[in-house]
Amino acid sequence: MQRTHLSLIASALLSAGLAGCGGSSDSTPTTTTVAVVDADTVADQNAAALLSQMTLDEKIQLVHGAGFGSSPIGGAGFVAGIPRLGIPDIISADSSGGVNVDKTGATSLPSPLALAASWDTSLANQYGALIGKELRTLGFTEGLGGGVNLAREPRNGRTFEYLGEDPLLAGNMITQRIIGTQAQNVIATIKHFAVNDQETNRFTSNAIVDERTLRELSLLPFEIGVKNGAPGNVMCSYNLVNGVKACQNSYLLTDTLKNEWGFKGVVQSDWFMAVTDTVPAAIAGLDEEQPGSLDDSVPGFGGLKSHFNQSLKAAIQSGQVPQSRLDDMVLRKLRTLYKLGIMASPPKAGGTIDRTAGNALAQQVAEQSMVLLKNAAPAGTSTTALPLNAASIKSIAVIGGHADVAVLAGGGSGGSPAQDGNPVTCLDTSILVEGIFSACATWYKSSPLAAIQAKAPNATVTYLDGTDATAAATAAATADVTIVFATQWESEGMDLASLSLPNHTTDPSNQAYDQDALISAVAAKAKRTVVVLETGTAVTMPWLANVHAVLESWYPGIQGGPAIANLLFGTVNPSGKLPLSFPVADSDLPQKTIAPTDVNVVYNEGLMMGYRWYDAHQIAPLFPFGHGLSYTTFAYSGMSSATDAAGNVTVSFTLTNNGSRAGAEVAQVYAQLPSGIGEPPKRLVGWQKVQLAAGQSTKVSVTVPPQQLAIWNINKHQWKVPAGSYTFYAGGSSRDANAVSSGSTIAGQVIARKL
Ligand code: GLC
Repeated sequence: MQRTHLSLIASALLSAGLAGCGGSSDSTPTTTTVAVVDADTVADQNAAALLSQMTLDEKIQLVHGAGFGSSPIGGAGFVAGIPRLGIPDIISADSSGGVNVDKTGATSLPSPLALAASWDTSLANQYGALIGKELRTLGFTEGLGGGVNLAREPRNGRTFEYLGEDPLLAGNMITQRIIGTQAQNVIATIKHFAVNDQETNRFTSNAIVDERTLRELSLLPFEIGVKNGAPGNVMCSYNLVNGVKACQNSYLLTDTLKNEWGFKGVVQSDWFMAVTDTVPAAIAGLDEEQPGSLDDSVPGFGGLKSHFNQSLKAAIQSGQVPQSRLDDMVLRKLRTLYKLGIMASPPKAGGTIDRTAGNALAQQVAEQSMVLLKNAAPAGTSTTALPLNAASIKSIAVIGGHADVAVLAGGGSGGSPAQDGNPVTCLDTSILVEGIFSACATWYKSSPLAAIQAKAPNATVTYLDGTDATAAATAAATADVTIVFATQWESEGMDLASLSLPNHTTDPSNQAYDQDALISAVAAKAKRTVVVLETGTAVTMPWLANVHAVLESWYPGIQGGPAIANLLFGTVNPSGKLPLSFPVADSDLPQKTIAPTDVNVVYNEGLMMGYRWYDAHQIAPLFPFGHGLSYTTFAYSGMSSATDAAGNVTVSFTLTNNGSRAGAEVAQVYAQLPSGIGEPPKRLVGWQKVQLAAGQSTKVSVTVPPQQLAIWNINKHQWKVPAGSYTFYAGGSSRDANAVSSGSTIAGQVIARKL
């Protein structure tokens, strides 16, 4: 989709208008035809002009990194610029949840999965903007955040880095994140393209997935993000897709991404093991290899060779790779630099991070993303366990999860930078990840205990580290309320063995004791038990019936402590909703186990992924996709749906806050497509996050464009909206028993290949 730059059009029209008004003496207005030139065209023209001045060696220099660790300012990647042509260095840093470069003061934001749980696209824009601003402040040209691989496999060690199980939620959130980052004149990335949905054997695993599932699920968040966010960078992934390495896969990179979706940016390899052959990669559509090296023939990091330096030059000179392909690679890089204003104003290193702004946004995201999963009244009382009333609570026992010092953060490239003694690393045993790097759970100095004490200054607050379940139960027996922190550390390079809370035997890197046993022991004695989860993905909860409240705080970032306390004491009303399903047990998952020997990952479940799986197989999840409680309640009524001539469906309903305090509701709209076409029972087609005062009602209208109702026709390889009768539901989760519904008969149509 060509994006036009309004300021360019405006300035063009303005100059014409001024000429018209001021340029002639007579009163009749002159009409001037103005060649309206948009930012894309200007970028393309400037790039072509510069390309024509470049030598072969200069072109080669721009399509590969100069080697791992070659950046003068740290980060992950470095493409040397060409000063004689005014082309700046292009320096990349990992930035999934914040700029992951040590000792820079960069903000450790809540995990991307937490952001998804906010269901707030404007917050996603702010999230991307802050990261873009901090990247640029530190001198980086490109951020390598932006993972949108769907949570088909919630045990995936990088689930925390991604945006959940639904393609529309992930696609809309990543779109705004991209727009936010690129508004700061920094290149944004969307990754890992594609079907890189688990870490086991990630360099060699082969995702075997049918075309319809590929298009309606795995690729859809990328399609939404690319078409609506126009990222400058798409990072192709390590794995194979239907037998071909993703970074050497012409169906993915050229047929679909470039030709069908109109992507005009750079396809960049993931680091090291994503490219195995120069010519297939270049021909398939790869435009840049990272981290590259200054000499393909010399083994680099880990003894690995690179493929896009002399090897590519030789392939060009021999004609194995056409010159036009190299020129296209370079054009894509240059136009991106022009389009995002980087040629005009390259970032400069040495700026100072605005920690106040970063901390404020980190806390806002944390508070908007935490999900209140359960909130019941203890036996014999009429008030729910949460929010805590500081005025009446005399004693609080806080247990486990290193809550005295920190909150958990994810590991690997999508983790958080180290600074100010943060993260407080290796409070537990370190482990060897992928047989390559030693790692352990990373903790951020933001103490929930301190924040809880601050909220209840008159209460006696005690802390036990959780290693002694008996002592914890004893403390719980006398406390007015007991808050148990439970954690699940995730990292790139490894998958979880199970969704059970890790314990000292299954996962020594996380906690040195059995967390499920601890919670059960406490719940058996406590007057009121609140569990706070700090997890990267879903967890199972064998103790759920015995606790009164559960708050999912994800990896809550550098302000996680105060944010958790604000929700526990009701300063902030929870409004997060699950971006992925929480199953009762691992055995409820489509893929029963992940074996270390797995190489072929077969997507047998097809379209039935995530909540689609549980719905299609009538499996009751522990907590469904879209679930999240508030300290108030909401009611849905009066739903209607109407379709216009273009096939847009407008769904309207009344939302009422019928509880006792203000709150925000993520009102979700799902569609049941016509029967007999192989679709899951329903799909998310839209939502709105609505803030309402107690007693307030409002009419909510959600427009569902035909694209949201389309299925992929594998014979014609195109999107089409099936004709027939649809039912639309509006509710507070994918399984809201009080959801309202309305039916519409919709004419079928083929969807244009570009949004
Ligand atoms: C990694 C990751 C990728 C990251 C890159 C640079 O292995 O897969 O997400 O951006 O290397 O660190």
